[in-house]
Order: sequence, then structure tokens, then C-alpha cells
Amino acid sequence: MDDLIKARTERTQWFLDSRFGMFIHWGLYAIPARGEWVRNNERIPVEAYQPYFDEFEPSRYDPKQWARLAKEAGMRYAVLTAKHHDGFCLFDSALTDYKATNTKAGRDLVREFLDAFRAEGIKVGLYYSLLDWHHPDYPHMTDQNHPMRGNSAYPDEGRDFNRYLEYMHGQVRELLTQYGKLDILWLDFSYGKMAGETWQATKLMEMIRSLQPWIIVNNRLEVGGESYGSILTDHPSFYAGDFASPEQMVPPKGMVDLKGNPVPWESCITLNDHWGYCAADKHYKTAKMVIRNLIECVSKNGNLLLNVGPDAKGEIPPESVEILREVGRWMRKNSDSVYGCGAAQLDKPDWGRFTQKGRKLYAHVMDENVCAYLLDLKPDQVEKVRLLSDGAEMKLEQPWNTVSIQDKSFFTFWGKSFPLPDPTDTVVEITLK
Ligand code: GLC
Repeated sequence: MDDLIKARTERTQWFLDSRFGMFIHWGLYAIPARGEWVRNNERIPVEAYQPYFDEFEPSRYDPKQWARLAKEAGMRYAVLTAKHHDGFCLFDSALTDYKATNTKAGRDLVREFLDAFRAEGIKVGLYYSLLDWHHPDYPHMTDQNHPMRGNSAYPDEGRDFNRYLEYMHGQVRELLTQYGKLDILWLDFSYGKMAGETWQATKLMEMIRSLQPWIIVNNRLEVGGESYGSILTDHPSFYAGDFASPEQMVPPKGMVDLKGNPVPWESCITLNDHWGYCAADKHYKTAKMVIRNLIECVSKNGNLLLNVGPDAKGEIPPESVEILREVGRWMRKNSDSVYGCGAAQLDKPDWGRFTQKGRKLYAHVMDENVCAYLLDLKPDQVEKVRLLSDGAEMKLEQPWNTVSIQDKSFFTFWGKSFPLPDPTDTVVEITLK
């Protein structure tokens, strides 16, 4: 069992150092533009969804632009939906006709994504849906998530789930053999009895590990985004995955297993309120929220996988582009406090958060104080203090009104505690002795 954790630790090293990734949800659902669950939410039968396949022509798909944007934002890896729950394949699968190369797009959208992101030095991952609402052998009427659930016109007699499994395993094999070295396989998701060995998870995982031993896999052969599975116990299953994938939330204290071993994890979060493109959804987070969200993850030893949902033409919405550029402006000056960093030796301070990498302790000051900022360190533990963004020297001080607080340090920004040099997150780099 410890071997499993050892292998996991080695495999996930680059991933945990990277901290920040781009999630991309893209498919036919960009045309109805009401999110990637549109078929489910509106109970759209497969025939009524067909016009989107016939029409799909993403004439402005230019993954090089996506890759440049990811790079500019400081993202170090990216994960694209090769197939989402609607079953439409962005890649040229030999096992189905329901694929991008058979649409007006006429291109293998996955291959172009991989080429473009690799060229920018960004690690690449593919999302693959375990569910499939297009495949005739996936349960319809009796499945709680299927668009045709409860619909007696779509009974499940005669559907052969084993045939579906063969198809699903076959497609995973295609992705792992036809597209070069992949860094992440992001499977989605398990629910009810559609979990674990129902997917023939041991067999699937054996194949994954044998084809690409270094690929890292999430925990969703066991669970969905609301729980974590055996990766958090002291007996992770063979298919427990390499990292946990909390969805739209950040775990309160990060994640450790029952023995206290740190468990790699990644929060996946949308920029607005949908994964797939939703034309009416303008409820975007601000760049400030995104940056603080990222720092919260890092301060708890986790990653942030931040989503964009390109539109039917293939473009990332301008709101998302703007936010990511702003995040990038902050990252350009402050990313030393992100990459390779994790939880600090000090507890969360009143005024923000800490991240740490070896002797470098990063104080992320987010709330203005009326007086000097308290550091729970003795002055003789500190070698030097710098503002991270410009390298300017800062000094520890002991203002007159703090003399009765013993054995602690304080800092201000050259005599002033506010306004903060950067209201989003001012990073103070503290080099420890
Ligand atoms: C889900 C959803 C989905 C989304 C994913 C991202 O479980 O089904 O549409 O792709 O989570 O985490």
C-alpha cells in the first residue's frame, strides 16, 4: 500500500509544483449555449440534438491562441474535454462516427489542442466522460442522469452495458496510444452504482498504467465532485486515482489521509456559473477572487483548475480572456509565491494567507490593517524581507504600541500599513534563517 503512495508522490510532483491549470469544456453544447448539461436539463432526445452536430463549424478555433492565453495567465497545464457526457468526441475515434472529423469542423480538435499547448511548454491532459448519453448501450430510462431518465419510450431492455464498456475502454486506449504522452487523464464521473468495478475500473486502470505509467489520473472512477473516495483512507484502491477533485469548492483544511499523508488535490472551479459555454451567464468572478482562490488552494497544498468554456465558433469568451489577462499581470510579478509552494509552517494569519517553499515564506496580505502586520516569528528567525513584486527591501520593526507583545515580528510598507501596494494580494517574501 505504501508503494502505491510512493508512486503517487513521484508521479504528482510536477503537478503539485505547477499549482495552476486551465480546464476547457467545449463541444456541441456550445451551440445551444446553455451549458454542457443542456441535454439532461431539458431532456433533449438524441434526434433533437442532432442539428447541432450537423451545424458544428468552429471557424475561429485556434488553440494556439488558447495556449498563449493560458501561458500569459501563468497556467502550467491544461485539460480539454475529449468527450463530455453528450458523447460527442472532439477526437478522431475509430470507434464512433459521432466525432468532430465528421462535422463541418473536419479536424481532430484534440490533436490540434495538444500540439498547440505542448508548443507553449504547457502540460496536457484530457477529460473523458465515463457517462455517455449518445451511446445506445448506455442505460437510458433507468439511469438517474440520462436525459431520457424515467421515459418509457427509452426502455433499457436489450442495451448491453458490456458493449458500452468495451467502447469506453477502447476510446481511452485510443487517447493513450494515438496522441503521444499525456500528462493527465481526467475521468468524469461516478454516481450510485455507476462506480468502481461497474466501469471495470481495475482493468481500465491496469491498461492506463501499462500504456502511460507516468500519467496522473483523478479519483472519479470512484466518486463525483462531491466526495473523495478511498484516496483519503489508509487503503486506497488500485483505481483510487492520484489526486482528489473537489468541485466548485476548496476543502477547509486541504487534504490528508487517515495516516496523515498529504493527498494531492485540485479544486476545479468555473469562471462564471457554467462549465460549457452559456451565452446568458455573465456572473463572472473577478480576477481578484480568482487570485485569492488560487492562493487559498496553494496555502492548503492544493491546485486550482480554472475553467473556460469556448463558444460555438471556438473562441474563449472575452470576459474570461480579460480576467485571465489580469490574473497574468499579477502572476508575472508574484508567481514565485505559487509555483513549487505549499502550506506554510505558520498558521493562517488575520490579514491573509501564507504560502511557503523551503526557506521562503510568502505573506499574502489581503486585508488592510490599521497598524503593523503581525508575524508569528522571532526577529532572529528572519534573514531578510522583500516586496516580491519589485524586490524592494522591507524591514521588520517593533512599533511602540507592540512592545508588550513579546517574541513576535511586525512589518509595514515603509512605515504605512495601508493602502496596500496591491489591493488584490500584496506578497511579502520573508527569507527564513
Ligand atoms: C461534473 C459535471 C460536469 C463537469 C465536471 C467538472 O461532474 O458533470 O459537467 O464537466 O463536473 O468537474
